[in-house]
This record gives sequence, structure tokens and C-alpha cells, in this order.
Amino acid sequence: MPKERYYAGSTEDDGADAEDIGGRRRGGQRVGQRPKGDAGRLLAELAGMTDQEAGFTTTYTPARFEEGWLLSSLRFFYDQQMITDVLAQVKGGKEANVYRCAGHVTTGQPLLAAKVYRPRQFRNLRNDKMYREGRVVLTAEGRAVKATDQRIMRALGKKTAFGEQVQHTSWLMYEYTTLERLYAAGAAVPRPFAAAENAILMGYVGDARGAVPALHAVSLEPAEAGALFEETLRNIELMLQHGLIHGDLSPYNVLYWEGRLTLIDFPQVTSSATNPHARDILARDVTRMCAYFQREGVDCDAEEISDDLWARYGVEPEPLQIEEMV
Ligand SMILES: Nc1ncnc2c1ncn2[C@@H]1O[C@H](COP(=O)(O)OP(=O)(O)OP(=O)(O)O)[C@@H](O)[C@H]1O
Ligand SMILES: [Mg+2]
Repeated sequence: MPKERYYAGSTEDDGADAEDIGGRRRGGQRVGQRPKGDAGRLLAELAGMTDQEAGFTTTYTPARFEEGWLLSSLRFFYDQQMITDVLAQVKGGKEANVYRCAGHVTTGQPLLAAKVYRPRQFRNLRNDKMYREGRVVLTAEGRAVKATDQRIMRALGKKTAFGEQVQHTSWLMYEYTTLERLYAAGAAVPRPFAAAENAILMGYVGDARGAVPALHAVSLEPAEAGALFEETLRNIELMLQHGLIHGDLSPYNVLYWEGRLTLIDFPQVTSSATNPHARDILARDVTRMCAYFQREGVDCDAEEISDDLWARYGVEPEPLQIEEMV
């Protein structure tokens, strides 16, 4: 494939700043923090790819520590002709950075969001054990690792580097396959486009100006608050109908754009049927969302709602299977 194909022309948006329309713009300072000392060196070695080596350049100018990782993580999407440019870093989160990309014309999307997971060594891992309970491990193809696959099961058990890579891939694939299922079911989630080893590509919420606010930064009119609360409950219930609980649902993981909500950030998605903590995880999701909507004037009782949802969709946990214990 010719190199020119990957070359991205420049636009006005130089991507130098992480952005946030929601009022927390950090002018001139990248939101993604630079790993210090050894970590920084290791990261550079890990990524080890300049834009020249990667075969494409981007409008967004990544920091040196970020460049190789970013380009190698997104290269697949260039190769597959899904994106033509990286325009800006939208936000650096705890576990991933999200970038605004120019969609290739064949995607029909002028903008796409690429969520690039941090190398596992530098991820600020949330305590994910609770979420992994009752979940099979997913391969890069989105298939469950079989308990009979001894090589993988041994690596997982011994927590070798390979085993950790398998977990990392599984974490990402849970996010991607959940988006696929929920988008197909009509949930308010970004449309998934592709998954690569270390990144997912999805519909972009917002326009070229910057990051849209998450719900926590938004004040709603009373009528709008009621309607958006109903929309939140519709999505929680839709997830339960598919045996899923978000697991980290809060006004920080719900984007608000043009009067509509979009639920994001699904890697910790939990099975309502097989996770022994499912009921508590559901209750916490509902409580956090109710706390926000109460503040916005909606009369709601989190306990009543989650009890009702659990009564209708909850399943008593079954004994753990071998592949669920890793
Ligand atoms: N599809 C999208 N369209 C537009 N912006 C997005 C999209 N997905 C994520 N973002 C932006 O990136 C931010 C981080 O995304 P996300 O919550 O999925 O990652 P994270 O690493 O888990 O972040 P955090 O640790 O802050 O929860 C979001 O708050 C939002 O501003
Ligand atoms: Mg988040």
C-alpha cells in the first residue's frame, strides 16, 4: 500500500490542546499525563514507532512519549481505510485516551472517536477483579477463551506477561462487543466501527469544536431532566434485557449533546446472571444516576428502582465455572 495513502493533510485544528466544551478546558496543557522516569522510557521502547516509521502523519501532534503508542495503536484503522487523520486528543482518561479522527469517506462519518487504551503497564487499573467475576475471557476476535485452552489458562493463572496481555485484550473486547450488542439493540451508545489490538473506533459524539460535556457538568431544564431520566432508565433496562449491567455508570460516563444522552465507557460491563455482585453493582449504577437527576429536580428513589429492576431481571448467581475464576 502506498505511503501517501496514510498521509493526513493539515487542518486548522492543530490538536495541541486537549479540549472540553464543558468548562474544564486546560489551555496549553495536555490532559494525558506524561509517565515519569523509567515508565516514560519503557513506554517509548514499547511503542517504538515514529510517524515516519508508521507510514502516516497526523494533524494532531502527539507528545513524544505518546507518539509511537498512538500511531501503532491506530495503524490498523488507517490500513483498513477507516480513518484518514487524527485531529485532536479529546480527553485523557484513567485508562485510555480518546482522539477525534477524520473518518474515511467509506465510513460515511466525517468524525470518529478512537479510544486508545494505555499500555497495560501504565494503566491506572481500577480494581477490576469484582467486574471480572462471572465473565469469561474474550479473545481479540471477541470469542470466549475455552477452559480447555491450557496455554492461555495457565498464563492467566500465573499472571505472566502474556496472561496480562490476554486480560488487556479481553477488557477492550468487552467494551467493543458490548457496544455492538447495545447499538444493535437500539441503546444510546456510540456506533462501533472496529476494534484493534489496543484501540476501538466508534461514532464521535459532538462536532469539530471539542469534547462535549458529560452529564455531571450540565444543568437541565425540569422538563428535559424528566425525559432524560426516563431515557437513562430505558438504557439500564435494555442492558438488563441483554443480561448486562454497565458497572461504572455515573454522570461522568454519560455524554450530553444536542439534548441527547450517550452512554460510554463499557470495559467493566458486568453479567447480571453470573456476577455474584450483580445486584450491588446495579444498585450503585442506579444510585449514582438518581443522585444526579435528584439534583436536577427529578423525584426518584434509587432503592425502589433498583429493587424493581432486580425483581424483573435479576438472576441468582450460579456456581463459578473454571474459566470464570481467573
Ligand atoms: N464516542 C465518543 N465521542 C466523543 N467523545 C468521547 C467518546 N468516547 C469518549 N469520549 C470522551 O473521552 C472521555 C473518556 O472516555 P471514557 O470514559 O470511555 O474513557 P476512560 O479512560 O474510562 O475515562 P475515565 O477514566 O475518565 O472514565 C469521555 O469523558 C469523553 O469526553
Ligand atoms: Mg469514563
